[in-house]
Amino acid sequence: MKPSYQLRIGLAGLGRFGIMHAKVLSSMANVELLAIAETRPEQLEEIGELYGVKCRYKEAEELIKDPDLDAIVIVTPNDQHEQHCLQALATGKPVFIEKPLASNYKNAQNLKQAAENSGSILQVGLILRYELNHRIIHQQIHQKDLGELISIRTKRNLSRSWFTATAEKVHTIYESSIHDLDLLLWLTGSKPISVFAHERRLGNYLSPEACIALIKFENGCIGITETSWFVPPGAPANVTTSNWNGCIDAELVVVGSNKTVQLRSLDSPLKIWDSSGTSSPDSILWPEYNGRIYGALREELDDFVKCASQGVESETANLEHAINGLQLADAIIESARIGTPIIMNQQSG
Ligand SMILES: NC(=O)c1ccc[n+]([C@@H]2O[C@H](COP(=O)([O-])OP(=O)(O)OC[C@H]3O[C@@H](n4cnc5c(N)ncnc54)[C@H](O)[C@@H]3O)[C@@H](O)[C@H]2O)c1
Repeated sequence: MKPSYQLRIGLAGLGRFGIMHAKVLSSMANVELLAIAETRPEQLEEIGELYGVKCRYKEAEELIKDPDLDAIVIVTPNDQHEQHCLQALATGKPVFIEKPLASNYKNAQNLKQAAENSGSILQVGLILRYELNHRIIHQQIHQKDLGELISIRTKRNLSRSWFTATAEKVHTIYESSIHDLDLLLWLTGSKPISVFAHERRLGNYLSPEACIALIKFENGCIGITETSWFVPPGAPANVTTSNWNGCIDAELVVVGSNKTVQLRSLDSPLKIWDSSGTSSPDSILWPEYNGRIYGALREELDDFVKCASQGVESETANLEHAINGLQLADAIIESARIGTPIIMNQQSG
Protein backbone atom coordinates (compact mmCIF):
# COMPACT_ATOMS: atom_id res chain seq x y z
CA MET A 1 0.00 0.00 0.00
CA LYS A 2 1.32 3.49 -0.82
CA PRO A 3 2.33 5.37 2.35
CA SER A 4 0.29 8.46 3.20
CA TYR A 5 3.41 10.61 3.76
CA GLN A 6 6.89 11.08 2.35
CA LEU A 7 9.57 12.56 4.60
CA ARG A 8 12.79 14.03 3.19
CA ILE A 9 15.51 13.22 5.70
CA GLY A 10 19.09 14.45 6.11
CA LEU A 11 21.54 12.19 7.96
CA ALA A 12 24.76 13.53 9.50
CA GLY A 13 27.60 11.15 10.42
CA LEU A 14 28.33 7.99 8.41
CA GLY A 15 30.53 6.06 10.83
CA ARG A 16 29.95 2.60 12.30
CA PHE A 17 26.39 3.38 13.35
CA GLY A 18 25.52 6.10 10.84
CA ILE A 19 25.86 3.71 7.91
CA MET A 20 23.26 1.47 9.54
CA HIS A 21 20.93 4.44 9.88
CA ALA A 22 21.55 5.16 6.18
CA LYS A 23 20.69 1.59 5.26
CA VAL A 24 17.46 1.62 7.25
CA LEU A 25 16.34 5.10 6.17
CA SER A 26 17.06 4.45 2.49
CA SER A 27 14.90 1.32 2.60
CA MET A 28 11.80 2.96 4.09
CA ALA A 29 8.87 3.40 1.73
CA ASN A 30 7.81 6.68 3.32
CA VAL A 31 11.29 8.29 3.44
CA GLU A 32 13.59 9.90 0.94
CA LEU A 33 17.16 9.99 2.22
CA LEU A 34 17.70 13.34 0.51
CA ALA A 35 20.99 14.43 2.12
CA ILE A 36 23.97 13.01 3.95
CA ALA A 37 26.96 14.65 5.66
CA GLU A 38 30.32 13.13 6.50
CA THR A 39 33.76 14.68 6.97
CA ARG A 40 35.55 11.73 5.29
CA PRO A 41 35.10 12.39 1.52
CA GLU A 42 35.47 8.75 0.42
CA GLN A 43 32.88 7.54 2.88
CA LEU A 44 30.53 10.33 1.80
CA GLU A 45 30.95 9.36 -1.84
CA GLU A 46 30.58 5.64 -1.24
CA ILE A 47 27.38 5.88 0.81
CA GLY A 48 26.00 8.60 -1.47
CA GLU A 49 26.46 6.37 -4.53
CA LEU A 50 25.22 3.23 -2.77
CA TYR A 51 21.88 4.81 -1.84
CA GLY A 52 21.61 7.39 -4.64
CA VAL A 53 21.61 10.32 -2.20
CA LYS A 54 21.15 13.64 -4.05
CA CYS A 55 22.75 16.12 -1.64
CA ARG A 56 26.12 15.40 -0.03
CA TYR A 57 27.80 17.67 2.48
CA LYS A 58 31.19 17.60 4.18
CA GLU A 59 29.90 19.03 7.45
CA ALA A 60 26.81 18.31 9.51
CA GLU A 61 26.31 22.07 9.85
CA GLU A 62 25.90 22.47 6.06
CA LEU A 63 23.38 19.63 5.89
CA ILE A 64 21.35 21.12 8.73
CA LYS A 65 20.99 24.36 6.70
CA ASP A 66 19.50 22.49 3.68
CA PRO A 67 16.04 24.08 3.29
CA ASP A 68 14.60 21.06 1.44
CA LEU A 69 14.81 18.72 4.42
CA ASP A 70 11.76 17.80 6.49
CA ALA A 71 13.70 16.13 9.32
CA ILE A 72 17.28 15.69 10.55
CA VAL A 73 19.02 12.60 11.95
CA ILE A 74 22.31 13.13 13.81
CA VAL A 75 24.77 10.25 14.26
CA THR A 76 27.97 12.29 14.68
CA PRO A 77 30.47 11.63 17.51
CA ASN A 78 29.26 12.18 21.07
CA ASP A 79 31.36 15.27 21.68
CA GLN A 80 29.62 17.10 18.79
CA HIS A 81 26.04 16.21 19.71
CA GLU A 82 25.16 19.40 21.56
CA GLN A 83 26.45 21.73 18.86
CA HIS A 84 24.74 19.79 16.03
CA CYS A 85 21.57 19.37 18.04
CA LEU A 86 21.34 23.11 18.78
CA GLN A 87 21.88 23.95 15.10
CA ALA A 88 19.26 21.41 14.04
CA LEU A 89 16.73 22.56 16.62
CA ALA A 90 17.07 26.16 15.39
CA THR A 91 15.47 25.03 12.09
CA GLY A 92 12.26 24.06 13.89
CA LYS A 93 12.33 20.66 12.13
CA PRO A 94 12.00 17.27 13.87
CA VAL A 95 15.38 15.99 15.05
CA PHE A 96 16.55 12.50 15.93
CA ILE A 97 19.88 12.33 17.75
CA GLU A 98 21.82 9.30 18.84
CA LYS A 99 22.52 8.87 22.53
CA PRO A 100 23.83 10.53 24.59
CA LEU A 101 21.73 13.65 24.07
CA ALA A 102 24.29 15.85 25.83
CA SER A 103 27.38 15.77 27.99
CA ASN A 104 25.41 16.40 31.19
CA TYR A 105 21.95 17.14 32.60
CA LYS A 106 22.34 20.93 32.53
CA ASN A 107 23.26 20.95 28.84
CA ALA A 108 20.38 18.59 28.12
CA GLN A 109 18.03 21.12 29.77
CA ASN A 110 19.40 23.80 27.43
CA LEU A 111 18.57 21.58 24.46
CA LYS A 112 15.08 21.04 25.83
CA GLN A 113 14.67 24.82 26.07
CA ALA A 114 15.92 25.19 22.48
CA ALA A 115 13.39 22.57 21.31
CA GLU A 116 10.59 24.38 23.13
CA ASN A 117 11.65 27.73 21.65
CA SER A 118 11.66 26.44 18.08
CA GLY A 119 8.80 23.95 18.39
CA SER A 120 11.01 21.09 17.18
CA ILE A 121 10.38 17.49 18.13
CA LEU A 122 13.59 16.09 19.61
CA GLN A 123 13.91 12.30 19.90
CA VAL A 124 16.96 10.52 21.36
CA GLY A 125 18.17 7.03 20.40
CA LEU A 126 16.95 5.02 23.40
CA ILE A 127 17.10 1.86 21.32
CA LEU A 128 16.36 -0.75 23.99
CA ARG A 129 12.81 0.60 24.37
CA TYR A 130 12.25 -0.71 20.83
CA GLU A 131 13.76 -4.16 21.33
CA LEU A 132 11.17 -6.91 21.62
CA ASN A 133 12.61 -8.83 24.60
CA HIS A 134 12.93 -5.65 26.63
CA ARG A 135 9.40 -4.68 25.61
CA ILE A 136 8.06 -8.02 26.83
CA ILE A 137 9.85 -7.56 30.18
CA HIS A 138 8.44 -4.02 30.44
CA GLN A 139 4.96 -5.33 29.75
CA GLN A 140 5.27 -8.11 32.35
CA ILE A 141 6.40 -5.63 35.00
CA HIS A 142 3.63 -3.17 34.26
CA GLN A 143 0.96 -5.87 34.21
CA LYS A 144 2.24 -6.74 37.72
CA ASP A 145 3.08 -10.29 36.55
CA LEU A 146 6.31 -10.17 38.55
CA GLY A 147 4.58 -9.08 41.76
CA GLU A 148 6.43 -6.50 43.84
CA LEU A 149 9.52 -5.22 42.01
CA ILE A 150 12.47 -6.06 44.26
CA SER A 151 15.59 -5.33 42.21
CA ILE A 152 16.92 -4.81 38.70
CA ARG A 153 20.51 -5.53 37.77
CA THR A 154 22.05 -4.44 34.47
CA LYS A 155 25.44 -5.14 32.97
CA ARG A 156 27.06 -3.71 29.84
CA ASN A 157 30.66 -4.84 29.46
CA LEU A 158 32.32 -4.01 26.17
CA SER A 159 35.27 -5.00 24.02
CA ARG A 160 38.56 -3.62 25.21
CA SER A 161 39.48 -2.68 21.62
CA TRP A 162 36.62 -0.15 21.44
CA PHE A 163 37.68 1.85 24.48
CA THR A 164 40.30 4.20 23.02
CA ALA A 165 37.84 5.56 20.41
CA THR A 166 35.57 6.87 23.15
CA ALA A 167 37.79 7.24 26.25
CA GLU A 168 38.71 10.87 25.64
CA LYS A 169 35.34 11.91 24.20
CA VAL A 170 32.83 10.94 26.85
CA HIS A 171 32.48 9.36 30.30
CA THR A 172 31.43 5.71 30.06
CA ILE A 173 28.29 6.38 32.07
CA TYR A 174 27.04 8.65 29.26
CA GLU A 175 28.42 6.40 26.51
CA SER A 176 27.42 2.87 27.56
CA SER A 177 25.47 2.90 30.86
CA ILE A 178 23.05 5.49 29.51
CA HIS A 179 21.19 2.58 27.87
CA ASP A 180 20.89 0.80 31.22
CA LEU A 181 19.98 3.92 33.19
CA ASP A 182 17.14 4.43 30.74
CA LEU A 183 16.15 0.77 31.20
CA LEU A 184 16.14 1.17 35.00
CA LEU A 185 13.96 4.30 34.79
CA TRP A 186 11.62 2.75 32.20
CA LEU A 187 11.24 -0.63 33.91
CA THR A 188 10.86 0.71 37.47
CA GLY A 189 8.59 3.55 36.34
CA SER A 190 9.97 5.31 39.42
CA LYS A 191 12.32 8.12 40.40
CA PRO A 192 15.82 7.47 41.72
CA ILE A 193 16.21 8.79 45.27
CA SER A 194 19.80 7.84 46.06
CA VAL A 195 22.90 6.70 44.21
CA PHE A 196 26.24 5.30 45.36
CA ALA A 197 28.88 4.57 42.71
CA HIS A 198 32.49 3.46 42.39
CA GLU A 199 34.74 3.57 39.35
CA ARG A 200 38.07 2.01 38.28
CA ARG A 201 40.67 3.94 36.33
CA LEU A 202 43.73 2.21 34.92
CA GLY A 203 44.59 4.83 32.31
CA ASN A 204 44.68 8.60 32.36
CA TYR A 205 41.56 9.17 30.25
CA LEU A 206 38.51 11.39 30.60
CA SER A 207 36.48 8.22 31.19
CA PRO A 208 37.10 5.48 33.75
CA GLU A 209 37.36 1.92 32.40
CA ALA A 210 34.68 0.62 34.76
CA CYS A 211 31.90 1.92 36.94
CA ILE A 212 29.33 0.23 39.19
CA ALA A 213 26.41 2.03 40.81
CA LEU A 214 23.75 1.14 43.35
CA ILE A 215 20.51 3.07 42.92
CA LYS A 216 17.52 3.21 45.26
CA PHE A 217 14.18 4.06 43.66
CA GLU A 218 11.19 5.83 45.23
CA ASN A 219 9.08 2.65 44.87
CA GLY A 220 11.64 0.65 46.90
CA CYS A 221 13.24 -1.14 43.95
CA ILE A 222 17.03 -1.47 44.13
CA GLY A 223 18.97 -1.00 40.90
CA ILE A 224 22.53 -2.12 40.23
CA THR A 225 24.28 -1.13 37.05
CA GLU A 226 27.72 -2.24 35.90
CA THR A 227 29.81 -1.26 32.92
CA SER A 228 33.43 -1.91 31.92
CA TRP A 229 35.65 -2.10 28.86
CA PHE A 230 37.64 -5.26 29.52
CA VAL A 231 35.95 -7.89 27.36
CA PRO A 232 38.91 -9.69 25.75
CA PRO A 233 39.18 -10.46 22.02
CA GLY A 234 38.49 -14.15 22.71
CA ALA A 235 34.90 -13.46 23.79
CA PRO A 236 32.18 -14.47 21.29
CA ALA A 237 31.62 -11.56 18.90
CA ASN A 238 28.01 -10.43 18.77
CA VAL A 239 28.66 -7.19 16.89
CA THR A 240 29.75 -8.42 13.50
CA THR A 241 29.12 -5.74 10.88
CA SER A 242 31.54 -4.99 8.04
CA ASN A 243 33.39 -2.26 10.01
CA TRP A 244 32.52 -3.07 13.62
CA ASN A 245 33.48 -6.27 15.39
CA GLY A 246 33.46 -7.17 19.06
CA CYS A 247 31.33 -8.09 22.01
CA ILE A 248 28.58 -6.41 24.01
CA ASP A 249 28.29 -8.59 27.12
CA ALA A 250 24.99 -7.25 28.42
CA GLU A 251 22.68 -8.70 31.02
CA LEU A 252 19.41 -7.76 32.66
CA VAL A 253 18.04 -9.51 35.72
CA VAL A 254 14.71 -8.40 37.15
CA VAL A 255 13.70 -9.90 40.49
CA GLY A 256 10.05 -9.63 41.44
CA SER A 257 8.30 -11.15 44.44
CA ASN A 258 6.61 -13.69 42.09
CA LYS A 259 9.01 -14.10 39.17
CA THR A 260 12.57 -13.50 38.05
CA VAL A 261 13.34 -12.47 34.48
CA GLN A 262 16.75 -12.77 32.83
CA LEU A 263 18.02 -11.55 29.49
CA ARG A 264 21.60 -12.06 28.31
CA SER A 265 23.00 -10.71 25.06
CA LEU A 266 25.30 -13.73 24.71
CA ASP A 267 22.48 -16.26 25.02
CA SER A 268 21.57 -15.89 21.35
CA PRO A 269 20.63 -19.28 19.87
CA LEU A 270 22.77 -18.45 16.83
CA LYS A 271 26.42 -19.51 17.18
CA ILE A 272 29.07 -19.64 14.46
CA TRP A 273 32.38 -21.46 14.97
CA ASP A 274 35.35 -20.70 12.77
CA SER A 275 39.14 -20.91 12.96
CA SER A 276 39.36 -17.80 15.18
CA GLY A 277 36.69 -18.84 17.69
CA THR A 278 32.94 -18.50 18.22
CA SER A 279 30.72 -15.62 17.20
CA SER A 280 27.13 -15.08 18.21
CA PRO A 281 25.75 -12.50 15.75
CA ASP A 282 23.15 -10.06 17.02
CA SER A 283 19.62 -10.99 16.04
CA ILE A 284 17.69 -8.35 17.99
CA LEU A 285 19.22 -4.87 17.74
CA TRP A 286 20.24 -4.38 14.11
CA PRO A 287 20.47 -7.81 12.40
CA GLU A 288 20.99 -7.73 8.65
CA TYR A 289 19.48 -10.17 6.21
CA ASN A 290 19.56 -9.88 2.45
CA GLY A 291 20.80 -6.30 2.60
CA ARG A 292 18.02 -5.15 4.93
CA ILE A 293 18.43 -4.19 8.61
CA TYR A 294 15.75 -5.45 10.98
CA GLY A 295 15.26 -5.28 14.74
CA ALA A 296 15.20 -2.43 17.24
CA LEU A 297 17.00 0.11 15.05
CA ARG A 298 14.33 -0.19 12.35
CA GLU A 299 11.51 0.01 14.92
CA GLU A 300 13.09 3.11 16.44
CA LEU A 301 13.53 4.95 13.13
CA ASP A 302 10.03 3.91 12.07
CA ASP A 303 8.70 5.54 15.21
CA PHE A 304 10.70 8.72 14.56
CA VAL A 305 9.50 8.93 10.96
CA LYS A 306 5.88 8.43 12.03
CA CYS A 307 6.15 11.04 14.82
CA ALA A 308 8.01 13.54 12.61
CA SER A 309 5.37 13.18 9.89
CA GLN A 310 2.52 13.68 12.33
CA GLY A 311 4.27 16.43 14.31
CA VAL A 312 3.93 14.58 17.60
CA GLU A 313 6.38 13.46 20.26
CA SER A 314 7.13 9.74 20.56
CA GLU A 315 5.21 7.94 23.28
CA THR A 316 7.96 5.32 23.47
CA ALA A 317 11.08 7.48 23.80
CA ASN A 318 10.47 11.16 24.44
CA LEU A 319 12.83 13.97 25.37
CA GLU A 320 11.97 13.83 29.06
CA HIS A 321 13.01 10.15 29.18
CA ALA A 322 16.45 11.04 27.79
CA ILE A 323 16.85 13.98 30.17
CA ASN A 324 15.95 11.85 33.20
CA GLY A 325 18.66 9.38 32.17
CA LEU A 326 21.22 12.17 32.09
CA GLN A 327 20.17 13.41 35.53
CA LEU A 328 20.80 9.92 36.92
CA ALA A 329 24.09 9.69 34.98
CA ASP A 330 25.28 12.98 36.52
CA ALA A 331 24.51 11.70 40.02
CA ILE A 332 26.43 8.45 39.42
CA ILE A 333 29.49 10.28 38.11
CA GLU A 334 29.40 12.73 41.01
CA SER A 335 29.01 9.94 43.58
CA ALA A 336 32.00 8.07 42.13
CA ARG A 337 34.02 11.30 42.14
CA ILE A 338 33.36 12.27 45.75
CA GLY A 339 33.14 8.70 47.09
CA THR A 340 29.87 9.14 48.98
CA PRO A 341 26.17 8.54 48.17
CA ILE A 342 24.14 11.26 46.43
CA ILE A 343 20.56 11.97 47.46
CA MET A 344 18.31 12.79 44.51
CA ASN A 345 14.79 14.10 43.85
CA GLN A 346 14.18 14.97 47.50
CA GLN A 347 10.59 16.01 48.24
CA SER A 348 10.54 19.56 49.59
CA GLY A 349 8.45 20.51 52.68
N1 LIG B 1 22.15 3.34 20.15
C1 LIG B 1 23.21 2.55 20.05
O1 LIG B 1 23.17 1.39 20.41
C2 LIG B 1 24.47 3.10 19.47
C3 LIG B 1 25.44 2.22 18.97
C4 LIG B 1 26.59 2.78 18.41
C5 LIG B 1 26.77 4.14 18.37
N2 LIG B 1 25.80 4.96 18.87
C6 LIG B 1 25.98 6.42 18.83
O2 LIG B 1 26.08 6.82 17.47
C7 LIG B 1 26.96 7.93 17.35
C8 LIG B 1 28.05 7.61 16.33
O3 LIG B 1 28.77 6.49 16.78
P1 LIG B 1 29.72 5.67 15.78
O4 LIG B 1 30.14 4.48 16.53
O5 LIG B 1 29.07 5.55 14.46
O6 LIG B 1 30.95 6.69 15.70
P2 LIG B 1 31.96 6.86 14.48
O7 LIG B 1 33.09 7.66 15.01
O8 LIG B 1 32.21 5.53 13.85
O9 LIG B 1 31.12 7.73 13.44
C9 LIG B 1 30.97 9.13 13.50
C10 LIG B 1 31.07 9.65 12.07
O10 LIG B 1 30.79 11.04 12.07
C11 LIG B 1 31.71 11.67 11.17
N3 LIG B 1 31.82 13.08 11.56
C12 LIG B 1 32.58 13.62 12.53
N4 LIG B 1 32.36 14.96 12.61
C13 LIG B 1 31.44 15.25 11.67
C14 LIG B 1 30.84 16.49 11.25
N5 LIG B 1 31.11 17.63 11.85
N6 LIG B 1 29.95 16.43 10.22
C15 LIG B 1 29.67 15.25 9.59
N7 LIG B 1 30.23 14.07 9.96
C16 LIG B 1 31.10 14.07 10.98
C17 LIG B 1 33.00 10.87 11.36
O11 LIG B 1 33.89 11.02 10.28
C18 LIG B 1 32.47 9.46 11.49
O12 LIG B 1 32.37 8.81 10.25
C19 LIG B 1 27.51 8.19 18.74
O13 LIG B 1 26.75 9.21 19.33
C20 LIG B 1 27.27 6.90 19.50
O14 LIG B 1 27.08 7.09 20.88
C21 LIG B 1 24.65 4.46 19.38
